[in-house]
Amino acid sequence: MREIEEEIAALKARRNAVILAHNYQRAEVQAIADFTGDSLELARRATQVDADVIAFCGVYFMAETAAILNPGKTVLIPDATAGCPMADMITGDQLRELKSRHPGALAVCYVNSTAEVKAECDICVTSGNAERVMSSLPKNREILFVPDQHLGGHVAAKLGAKYVLWPGYCPTHARLTAKRVAEARAAHPGAPVLVHPECPKDVRDAADECLSTGGMCAYARESAAKEIVVGTEVGILHRLREENPGKSFWPVDGAMVCPNMKKTTLENLRDCLRDMSPRVTVAPETALRARRAIEAMLEVK
Ligand code: 13P
Ligand code: SF4
Repeated sequence: MREIEEEIAALKARRNAVILAHNYQRAEVQAIADFTGDSLELARRATQVDADVIAFCGVYFMAETAAILNPGKTVLIPDATAGCPMADMITGDQLRELKSRHPGALAVCYVNSTAEVKAECDICVTSGNAERVMSSLPKNREILFVPDQHLGGHVAAKLGAKYVLWPGYCPTHARLTAKRVAEARAAHPGAPVLVHPECPKDVRDAADECLSTGGMCAYARESAAKEIVVGTEVGILHRLREENPGKSFWPVDGAMVCPNMKKTTLENLRDCLRDMSPRVTVAPETALRARRAIEAMLEVK
């Protein structure tokens, strides 16, 4: 173990902390985490934490979700500026205004949203459960889906439904093109192409499967394919390669890097456990309302 890894292990024991990491984190951060997963798996895991402290290696809304689900615990984020630009594409005021124009509609938010936006919603979804959650909603109600137009459009097409879509998007996934998918297919003939539902429609249509990052890990485990092409943030490649030593994984576009996901390093992880800062807190009234939307999602089987 390197010195910094030993420091983190000692601080983790001293603080009675658990380290949760998203699948897009740097390889060395994933390697030191107690649990690595997609947004849904991380939200579920956050409901089962015994530790006093959660050091959350991901972007801000993910740590906020862990804080909302664990009001009595301390949630740390190694870099408090690690935001998700898509989550910031709709504010609470904008959502309230949208709701006022659609009285009686159900408001659904992708988990990539602020606590204030979640507090205004009836239910959340993640990319791992969106189809299941959306198909559980009443068919006779208008549905507002924020902030990701692509995930919303993907689920609407799958379910033959129509939603009012907010025009938010992920800048990292928006850069992927159908042309790049075609080039990756030509370079790796026969390999299945997996893309994330945050990708634009023509990219989703050009792929074989459209999956959450956790879904991609499950697909890789279960598939007989020896080569798989992956169209999402490149951090996922570490986990796919670690878990499937006999298989090869290729990015559709090696430039798909989420700069915010890469803000977490072993150094700032160590520092936040040492200083017990930056902490992620949510105002109790907002947290209570946001928690209802998250729990409604977690209750859908
Ligand atoms: P997953 O829940 O599929 O890991 O997605 C989270 C995310 O931010 C994708 O950009
Ligand atoms: Fe947000 Fe996109 Fe980064 Fe995911 S990859 S955290 S959606 S900016």
